[in-house]
Formats: sequence, C-alpha cells, structure tokens
Amino acid sequence: MHEIIKELERRRAAAQMGGGEKRIEAQHARGKLTARERLDILLDEGSFEEFDTFVEHRSTDFGMDQQRVPGDGVVTGWGTINGRLVYLFVKDFTVFGGSLSAAHAQKIVKIQDMALRNGAPVIGVFDAGGARIQEGVDALAGYGEVFARNVLSSGVLPQISIIMGPCAGGDVYSPAMTDFIFMVRDTSYMFVTGPDVVKTVTNEVVSAEELGGAKVHTTKSSIADGAYDNDIDCLMQMRRLIDFLPSSNREPPPTWPSFQDVDKDDISLDTLIPANPNRPYDMKELILKVADEGDFFEIQENFAKNIITGFGRIEGSTVGFVANQPMVLAGVLDSDASRKAARFVRFCDCFNIPLVTFVDVPGFLPGTAQEYGGLIKHGAKLLFAFTEATVPKITCITRKAFGGAYDVMASKHMRADINYAWPTAQIAVMGAKGAVEIIFRADINDPVKIAERTKEYEERFLNPFVAAQRGYLDEVIMPHGTRRRIARGLRSLRNKRVEMPWKKHDNIPL
Ligand code: HXC
Repeated sequence: MHEIIKELERRRAAAQMGGGEKRIEAQHARGKLTARERLDILLDEGSFEEFDTFVEHRSTDFGMDQQRVPGDGVVTGWGTINGRLVYLFVKDFTVFGGSLSAAHAQKIVKIQDMALRNGAPVIGVFDAGGARIQEGVDALAGYGEVFARNVLSSGVLPQISIIMGPCAGGDVYSPAMTDFIFMVRDTSYMFVTGPDVVKTVTNEVVSAEELGGAKVHTTKSSIADGAYDNDIDCLMQMRRLIDFLPSSNREPPPTWPSFQDVDKDDISLDTLIPANPNRPYDMKELILKVADEGDFFEIQENFAKNIITGFGRIEGSTVGFVANQPMVLAGVLDSDASRKAARFVRFCDCFNIPLVTFVDVPGFLPGTAQEYGGLIKHGAKLLFAFTEATVPKITCITRKAFGGAYDVMASKHMRADINYAWPTAQIAVMGAKGAVEIIFRADINDPVKIAERTKEYEERFLNPFVAAQRGYLDEVIMPHGTRRRIARGLRSLRNKRVEMPWKKHDNIPL
C-alpha cells in the first residue's frame, strides 16, 4: 500500500512540474507566473480541486508518442473565490506552449459541462500557442467543442477570459464568445494571425504588441474589457469582479455588507452641474457618490470614454451603471459608445443585475465617419438593449437629454421603471442654438431677434418640467438625495416581473 501511495505522489509531483524547471524559469523570466501560481492567487487558499491531473494526449505523429506530459498543457478544476464556486481552466505554457490537443480540449469541455450543470462561472486563463500543430484536425475538433459550450453557456453562466501570454489562432475565439476579456500589459497579446502571416499576406510589418497587445485591444478594437500591469494585479481584480456577479442566470447577484447609509444626503452633488451648460463635469463623481463606499468596477474604461459602464453596489447588491460622460466629446453617443453600452446592458439583463442610468447627452455624433461606420445600426443596438432589458431600470437625467439620445438612454418610453431628473435637466429635441437656427431661419441675420428666440426656447424647453408635466419623468429630485431615491426605488422593484411576447430569440441589429 505504501508503494502505491508513493506512486501517486510521484505522479502528482511530476504533473505539478508541467514542462519542467527550465521552462518554468523561462516563464518567470518573461514576468509571467505559471498556471499553478496563477491559481493560487485567483482562488481562496487551499480551495482548488484539480480534475484530470493525469490526462495525456494520444497523438503518435511527429514523435509525439515520445513526449507526454501529465495534464497536457492545461490545469482544470474548481475552487472558490470569497467562498463562491467557480470552474477554471488555466493553460500551461510550459507544456507544448499551452497548445490545444484533443485531450486538452476534453479537459476544458468537462469543466464547461460541469459548470453548466451546477450553475457557476467559468474562468479561462490563456497563455498558449493555438492548435497543437501535430494533432491536425483533432485539435480543430477540440476547439469546436469548446466554442459550442461557450455559446450554450452564454447568458446562463458568467464566462471570463484572462489573457496572460500569447493567445493566437484557435485560442482567440473562445474568449471572444465569453462575457469579459482582461489582459496583462506587455506580456499578453491576442490575434487571429500573427505578425509573420500578416507580413506575408498584407506586407505590413507590425510587432505582436502593435498587432494585438493590451493597449490595442483596450483602446482600439474594444476586444478587451480591461488591462492590468502584471499577473498578480490582474488576478486580484478578477476576484473583485467575481464578487459583483451572480453565479448563474438562476440566481440574484450576491449581496455583501454595506457600511454607507443611503439616507445620508450628499450636499456636494447640488453643485456638481456647472452654471454654464456647456462646461463639462465628471460623471464618475456621481457614480462614486451613489455606489456603496464608492466601489466601482469599470468595464472598458479606456474605450469610448464618452460613456461609462461598470458595476457597483447599492445597499450591498450589485447594479450596472451606464452613464454619459460630459468630460469626453460632451458625452455624445457615437457608434463605439453605443456598442459598448449595449453589450454591457445585455450582460446585466442576462444576469439579473438592475440598471442605473445617468443621462447627460447632447445627441448622436454627426459626420460621415459615423454615418459610413453604421451609426444607425450601432445606435439601435443600445436602444434595443435598453428596451428589451427586463431587469429593474432606474434613470436619472442630470443635464442634457437631447433628441433621439433622450429616447435611447433608458427613457420612460424604453420601459424604464423609474425616471428621475435633476432640476438642472434640459430635455428637448436639440440644443437652443441649433433649434432656433432651424425654426427661425428667416431671422438668422438679426442677432437681436435670434437672441430673443433663443431665450424663449431655453425657457420653454431647457428644463425638466415639460417632461414631468407629461409623466415622462416620475419626479424631479434634488441632486443631494439621488442615492437615497435610487436605493428606495431599487427596493421597490425587487419583485419586478415582466412578460415578453413569445419568441425564439430577438434579432438585435448586429
Ligand atoms: C505545438 C507548440 C505550439 C503549437 C508553441 N508550441 N506553439 N507546440 N503546437 N501550436 C511549443 C513550441 O514548440 C515550444 O516547444 C514551446 O511551445 C514554446 O514555444 P516557443 O515558440 O519556444 O515560444 P515563444 O518564442 O514564446 O513563442 C510563442 C508563440 C509561438 C508565439 C505562441 O510558439 C508560435 O508562434 N506558435 C505557433 C502559433 C500557431 O501558429 N499556432 C497554430 C495556430 S492555427 P519546446 O519543446 O521548444 O518548449 C490555429 C487554428 C485553429 O490555432 C483554428 C480553430 C478555429
């Protein structure tokens, strides 16, 4: 018996070493942790239960029968984050560059299936060279099985992808179908085809970093939802993110103790809006003052900064904040901002996370670049997402709500539950200057008349009271009581039920 136990220990120790000491050193030399070190940071201490430690590939081509490593380049299993169950697969770059074989794929698929049955998030950590080249179509088939489960789990379980090294070829499409992708600056990159292929096909010369580094994907392509300076920071932030999310669509979001009284007014909000309506202010200040303890996990912080999206808590329960940012492009809605916010709204709706929307939007961005780029369809995505969302929706207009953007930003007409406005709100088809130049075109050369007309328009429309008189706003509220009003509103909506007309699924303008 003693010998048998020793054999297990020996085999387990061999598996723990992955591709061996040299490759582990090389991993460290690049500023990267190993798969097992990453698990240690991501999970609660001692909570990891490994599966399939001894799985090996079955390939015999190209001398592969002489090279077998237990685990086959991916560490899989489950554990807890602050006591809550998560399933994980973590690619081990030290074993065949983390490349995916049929056996490696089977390990991931087993985890995905278990997560779906048991209703817990799946976290994938990527650091890999794509399909195991020696396995040919078996590797492609393996990817297909993983992708299919990504799709089936979408909207059922939160799926998070963390990119901590190369992520190329077949490896990119699984993350692309998950809810969030996070990267590590300088050590991670994602692309379908690498710099060499790009050079051959298009003659472009680019580095891996220029083609698919964290900066590109968080600012240009919007593929990634955030980036961090190193593995440890990234993994700690993933623990924080998981704390905001429900385990599945069958559960409400988790609640955590809150230490900030919602009944306490915040007088500083009464002076947040500048006297000059064309001066910007930082909408994040409002979010931080409304969220419990100012704890806000921003999604896509560096992309389409004219709209802010992210998670916070009110009275201990997760909410999704969506807010125009007057500091960037005056908070205008453009294609990028619309797509960014639409995807976030849909995530929240999938996972029972109420939406709190702050509005200060001068309209949609004009111009050929926007129109040629499909602004109509992209803007429609946000309109569609807000309207189809059945989670509790509370909206507060702080200043401008002009034109179609008024409708889009979770207005009453888009089935928001509670619509507030601050006394500083201005709700109109457009700003005064543009409006007067159109409806009083005959007076355009008479500055005195134009000034009079502008004043008249401002007095008539640039306030919240016309909309309030019609019931499009439920109440005009004092800025200092915003947190209390939203908290009480959310309490009242806790049992919200909405029936949708029967359909297989909708056809959001993609
Ligand atoms: C098998 C691989 C591998 C792969 C890397 N390795 N990629 N083994 N299949 N795809 C092995 C290497 O042989 C090496 O083994 C070890 O992993 C580390 O690789 P290095 O090249 O030494 O590391 P590095 O210089 O850091 O370069 C990393 C890399 C590079 C950029 C990822 O390895 C690379 O370009 N790999 C190939 C990428 C690729 O073309 N993949 C196929 C994509 S096609 P030793 O024993 O020396 O340590 C694809 C299609 C699927 O994925 C589509 C599905 C829809």
